[in-house]
Amino acid sequence: MLNNSKWISYPTDPVFHSPVLKRTFSAGEIKRATLEITSLGCYVATLNGQRVGDFILAPGGTSVKRVQMQTYDVTSMIKEDNVLQVTLGKGWFRGRLNTRNSEEKPDWYEALKCQLHIVDKDGNDSYIYSDEDWQASLGPVTFTDIYDGEHYDATYEMEFVPAKSFDYTGVDIVKQQGEIVKEQEIIKAHRIFKTPKGETVIDFNQNLTGYCQIELDAKAKERVSLSFAEVLDKDGNFYTENYRSAKSEFEYICKEGKNVHKPLLTFYGFRYIRVNEFPCEVTPDSISAIVVHSDIKRTGYLSSSNPLLNKLFSNIIWGQKGNFLDIPTDCPQRDERMGWVGDAQVFVRTASYNYDVNRFFEKWLEDMRLDQYPNGSVPFIIPHYWGECGSTAVWSDAITICPWQIYLTYANKSVLRKMYPCMKKYIDHIGTITKSKYLWTECWQFGDWLGLDAPAGSYKGSSNDDIIASAFYYYSTTLVDKIGKVLGYKCKKHETLSKRIKEKFKKTFKEFKTQTECVVALYFDLTDNKEAVAKKLANMIIENGKRLKTGFVGTPYLLHALSENGYCELAYDLLLQEDYPSWLFSVKQGATTIWEHWDGVNDKGEFWSKDMNSFNHYAYGSVADWVYGVACGIKTVEDKPGFEEVFIAPHPTKKLNHLSAKIETRHGTVESAWYKEGNSFRYEITTPVKATVVIEGKTYNLEKGRYVF
Ligand code: BGC
Repeated sequence: MLNNSKWISYPTDPVFHSPVLKRTFSAGEIKRATLEITSLGCYVATLNGQRVGDFILAPGGTSVKRVQMQTYDVTSMIKEDNVLQVTLGKGWFRGRLNTRNSEEKPDWYEALKCQLHIVDKDGNDSYIYSDEDWQASLGPVTFTDIYDGEHYDATYEMEFVPAKSFDYTGVDIVKQQGEIVKEQEIIKAHRIFKTPKGETVIDFNQNLTGYCQIELDAKAKERVSLSFAEVLDKDGNFYTENYRSAKSEFEYICKEGKNVHKPLLTFYGFRYIRVNEFPCEVTPDSISAIVVHSDIKRTGYLSSSNPLLNKLFSNIIWGQKGNFLDIPTDCPQRDERMGWVGDAQVFVRTASYNYDVNRFFEKWLEDMRLDQYPNGSVPFIIPHYWGECGSTAVWSDAITICPWQIYLTYANKSVLRKMYPCMKKYIDHIGTITKSKYLWTECWQFGDWLGLDAPAGSYKGSSNDDIIASAFYYYSTTLVDKIGKVLGYKCKKHETLSKRIKEKFKKTFKEFKTQTECVVALYFDLTDNKEAVAKKLANMIIENGKRLKTGFVGTPYLLHALSENGYCELAYDLLLQEDYPSWLFSVKQGATTIWEHWDGVNDKGEFWSKDMNSFNHYAYGSVADWVYGVACGIKTVEDKPGFEEVFIAPHPTKKLNHLSAKIETRHGTVESAWYKEGNSFRYEITTPVKATVVIEGKTYNLEKGRYVF
């Protein structure tokens, strides 16, 4: 693709300054003009001063082995005399956290490759390729980086010199595969106030991902300087320590007169903006927030009679919006913003109900396929931007769990077909690194990350790594077996292997000491003493004041493990718990997104840590899949995936007056709602397809329609 075009860039490494590449040309009357374009780093293209397309941070974040190419119809933008201009930034590809950029000094930097195809009125073709006929200058974006923000000088005078072309064979150019990232909504200032320190701060009343737009009249060279933050500290002051090394700033040098501007090549995770410098009075119209995320369609809705729970549902949606920016990131604000595979694995079911993420995950899984190590190890960050990061249980299991969920929600068999060889390699790889056959033991693991039973000073809960890793080894092997069967393979290898793992697990691990250990044993069906283990789990929770202690591993399955084993009411107690630690505790503390840590802000208003304290980390938002799938009871059917048929078994509680879930599937909208009416419940079920419905133990086989029980 783009075979006749060259990679071009500014003649020397622009470091943090953004280069601008320019090509002028004339055109007569035309029938059609099409721009195909990509970059190393990210780009913003304009034609005659008008932005081409609306893809923010194009060409997106992918494996460093490939870049996506976008195609734009620019017919209506072509004039007689034209200027095609492209500003380049670092994006993820050349971001400062991409370790290959710091480890080896690359002989390439931000670069452009494009082709403009013009068909004139008589049908003749002509082409403009990126080559040495282009001009290059350093541009008005004088500093840009996705972590540190952007500086823009509206008075900057560009000096153009011939562009440099070079060979770079490190990437394949592929067509746009994922959803594009777009501006989604504008949020106006909710309040502008002075902090106790006397700083001027704007509150947008919502933690979000995107950037700001400034609008002001100014004199040339006057400065705007803004900083971004998610939270205020307990005294009400602006707080950015949890961003760690990410500076997240925006600086702007004004031109004379009216200035309207937004950053071009970066993004921020924020609720608050501190106005460090502004040449005139700050009003709600001077600075607004623009929400940016992948252009995924909302499909899932939850609602209840409890306002705190509704806020939690909203926070889960905002957590997804904020972290689905081309890559499923852990968080959008501090110096990470990476595709941590464990986080995506934990959240994928919820994600696929909330939004249509079929394309989004197809693209990311392709990056996983490309970045898997040849020995089968799955990096814990995809795209693989960080040095050595080999397989770890739960995280690397994203390679089986995510494709399987995308298949269940969207009936996407091709993603299974593509990933199946990678999954098999991964399972084989575990066999080569474990110290005990048929288990996964004595390897370095993240464990029950952020579990509250962690020893002092550790991020890792005290659950046994070998129990967790072996349970996931078993689970992934069962999925590979199932997927092989879906794809029509006759191979028995994974069926046999999973049986062996299960037997060995049961023989080796008989005692489960933590909440998370009990959860994995129950959820993955790895104990013969389910009743006793469930009772133990329930007792641990009750003795802890009906509160959880689980981290990244136990939390997503905790409520399932309880409700599947006769403790549905206790699951509701956890869901509705308002004291720390709980989902609603953060809501009561004013959260507008999902927190990374249960006590991001504790009940004294203090931060638990400054190092690992994101206020926009979607992982614990995975509780929504229990609300969709158990509380409201909407489940996919494995042999009729993509909601071709549906299973609905609501589990109501008298602790709520009402709960409802709605999922817009490829076959139509499925809805399940229940209402408390005196001592009983009224159920309202809508199914667009054949459904098996279980109401209070009684099974109904229904055709499509709306039913009230
Ligand atoms: C990330 C997590 C991630 C973890 C690995 C953190 O720094 O933010 O969400 O999964 O590292 O344990």
